[in-house]
Amino acid sequence: MNFKERLNDDIRLIDKYLDIYLPQKENYQKNIYEAMRYSLFAGGKRLRPVITLACCELMGGNREEAVPAACAIEMIHTYSLIHDDLPAMDNDDYRRGNLTNHKVFGEAMAILAGDALLNKAFEVAVDESVKKGVEAAKVIRVLSVIANAGGTEGMIGGQVVDMEAENKKIEEEHLSYMHLHKTGALIIASAKAGAIIGNATKEQMDAITTYSKNIGLAFQVKDDILDVEGDQDKLGKPIGSDINNNKSTFVSLLGLERSKEKVKEMTDEAIKSLNIFGERGWFLKDLALYLINREK
Ligand code: IPE
Ligand code: IPE
Ligand code: MG
Ligand code: MG
Ligand code: MG
Repeated sequence: MNFKERLNDDIRLIDKYLDIYLPQKENYQKNIYEAMRYSLFAGGKRLRPVITLACCELMGGNREEAVPAACAIEMIHTYSLIHDDLPAMDNDDYRRGNLTNHKVFGEAMAILAGDALLNKAFEVAVDESVKKGVEAAKVIRVLSVIANAGGTEGMIGGQVVDMEAENKKIEEEHLSYMHLHKTGALIIASAKAGAIIGNATKEQMDAITTYSKNIGLAFQVKDDILDVEGDQDKLGKPIGSDINNNKSTFVSLLGLERSKEKVKEMTDEAIKSLNIFGERGWFLKDLALYLINREK
């Protein structure tokens, strides 16, 4: 299988299970299911769950066992986007090529849909992992990694730094901290969750942590670049959102050229960390290269 085939195969598997794990329901609260599914199936890249499956396989594990954790992380990521787009945060009208959740369902339902995706994520990570026969000790470790990455020392912490850095000029170290938390944390957790389920050794876990830290930071720097020079039709979300909100970004601090060099440097670093896996690291290597050139 080449890179694109394998990527699409993983995405198909994730989409199939997300649909099973979060069906539409017909009860008094059916609108919340509609709102959750609206954003979950709007066409995200599925980067985080793909990383989880790949890291599990790289360690010699069965990717089916990593599916519940992978889907849980995609649910948390989707919730973070719904809330990130709210008027109180980035106030954006488009996401994944469609109107944002609050534009369609209203702010109250969008807040609840985000909250509900977060809860659903943990329900899925526990119940569905157990159903697939994943060892309880591994499930507990994975839950801890995910909870931590989504919280105040992870994604939420990074979003706080992001909000508080609006209309300010911050240093590069402060900015890296923000990006490593708001975006890096969940990407690192995606890799670690897969590695735990695949029974990684300490050395393998260290390598995959270095890899995901570097692509996580590179991913957000590239996101900052796309906010300036991307094509809205391809990106599926507005260009110029950061400038409108007077955000601190890598582009606002270092400029486009230096930011692009940073993405390249961190990608090289990520690829280097895969050396211990030899040929078997090919997919994660190609994934890192694919992310540099992405247009969405
Ligand atoms: C967007 O994430 C928000 C960031 C953390 C940069 P993605 O670019 O992965 O968004 P989707 O999931 O493909 O929509
Ligand atoms: C979002 O960063 C990070 C999270 C949602 C946690 P951005 O605000 O730059 O993401 P986009 O550009 O809206 O996708
Ligand atoms: Mg934001
Ligand atoms: Mg945003
Ligand atoms: Mg952005």
